[in-house]
Amino acid sequence: IPVDPFDLVIFGGTGDLARRKILPALFHRFHAGQMPAEARVIGAARGEMSTEDFRAFAAEALDEFAPGQDRVWVDEFLQRLDYVTVDARGEDGWGDLGEKLRPDVVRAFYFSVAPALFADIAERLSQHGLTDATSRIVVEKPFGKNLETARALNRTMASYFDESQIYRIDHYLGKETVQNLMAIRFGNMLFEPLWNSQFVDHIQITVAETVGVGGRGEYYDTSGAMRDMVQNHLMQLLCLIAMEPPAKFDPDAVRDEKLKVIRALDPVPPHHIVRGQYEELEDDEGRHPSYREAVGNPRSRTESYVALRTTISNWRWAGTPFYLRTGKRLKARSSVINVMFKPMPHSIFGTEAGEHQNTLSIRLQPNEGITLGVTIKEPGPGGMRLIDVPLDMTFAEALGPDGHHADAYERLIMDVIRGNQTLFMRGDEVEAAWAWTDPIIEGWESRNDVPKGYASGSAGPADAELLLRRNGREWRGIN
Ligand code: BG6
Repeated sequence: IPVDPFDLVIFGGTGDLARRKILPALFHRFHAGQMPAEARVIGAARGEMSTEDFRAFAAEALDEFAPGQDRVWVDEFLQRLDYVTVDARGEDGWGDLGEKLRPDVVRAFYFSVAPALFADIAERLSQHGLTDATSRIVVEKPFGKNLETARALNRTMASYFDESQIYRIDHYLGKETVQNLMAIRFGNMLFEPLWNSQFVDHIQITVAETVGVGGRGEYYDTSGAMRDMVQNHLMQLLCLIAMEPPAKFDPDAVRDEKLKVIRALDPVPPHHIVRGQYEELEDDEGRHPSYREAVGNPRSRTESYVALRTTISNWRWAGTPFYLRTGKRLKARSSVINVMFKPMPHSIFGTEAGEHQNTLSIRLQPNEGITLGVTIKEPGPGGMRLIDVPLDMTFAEALGPDGHHADAYERLIMDVIRGNQTLFMRGDEVEAAWAWTDPIIEGWESRNDVPKGYASGSAGPADAELLLRRNGREWRGIN
């Protein structure tokens, strides 16, 4: 179903995110018939560029990030693009931008720029009368780098826009399986009654990447895995796994429940966290630089890996450990949530009661799907021997008719146009997440903590294994 006609202005329209994600996402939605022909996408940036140049830039972006497309479709899409030179910190270009915007269509502004420019852009949009109560703005992470800066940013945004107009993107919330997580939990009778500390032994959330910091060293070295991944992506996954059922699938009902989870998270003592930094690797493809080399800072103490154990002090989860880990340059790309149920209290089969344990694995990427690990009798005449087998649900239906896999950005941008904030973070959620993360990071800084080195291509620092092994548990997924 096509969304309403819209004008989408992308500040930072010639930037990396626009090239890699936003423009390809819009193209795919156009191709799928969801972006209507009357929609307009206006690139806005400081550089002098004609609309033709911008279209050529977009065409190259599509060649690279949405390759193999039919030329006719691409040309049709490019006709929807426009460009305007705007100085975020000055007065140039704002009048031109105003002239391009149409009345009576949905108006959205995507702030795909450094956060330092958010306030300037918001102020100018409002000074020049380019926004009204129905306009939407989309902001990317990093949303602050601690509680104080996030609060300041929220306050600035609040002086120009109502919270209902602000769409803070966490692209993990746009991933297919993440939404399926809610469907699984709240659409089945099977799981919810067991979804608590009485039946769940512990939960693991792994977001492992094989890539290193690449060309983003400058940003990443001031951030680290805790700020870059845990405070936002892993926290959001944790919320969806742990939250109470919202009364309805409505943006504030869902976000209220997520917020309660974050507020109930216990502080993490230092011996429940492992930080790591990847070392250089020599393999068939050549030499891969160490983290320190990649960021150009030989003394860097920034972590490219973190594993931690936390608990949630509420009625449902008291005492159940949640183990979170994420890192770069690990042996496999794998984002997975494992819900590990408690073992049977007693075995009637002569096996050890603790030998078998149901698991529910929710795979975000790659190979999206859900696997329920169940225990059955080993087939054959060998007697009553038990084995664990997977009941596998792979989400092939997540693929469109053309085999295209809808990217998180496609879904999220269309939600902005539809005015649905369910999959976006509210300001208080972001602040609560920082309030939990800040003491951890401040602790590292005050102790001058040095991350443990780990071999590129490994499962991370050995100490991360101990975090679980101490309690007789082990990581699932990559080991
Ligand atoms: C981004 C982080 O938000 O998420 C990156 O800044 C990380 O460091 C990326 O690589 C991971 O996203 P995905 O969708 O590839 O899992």
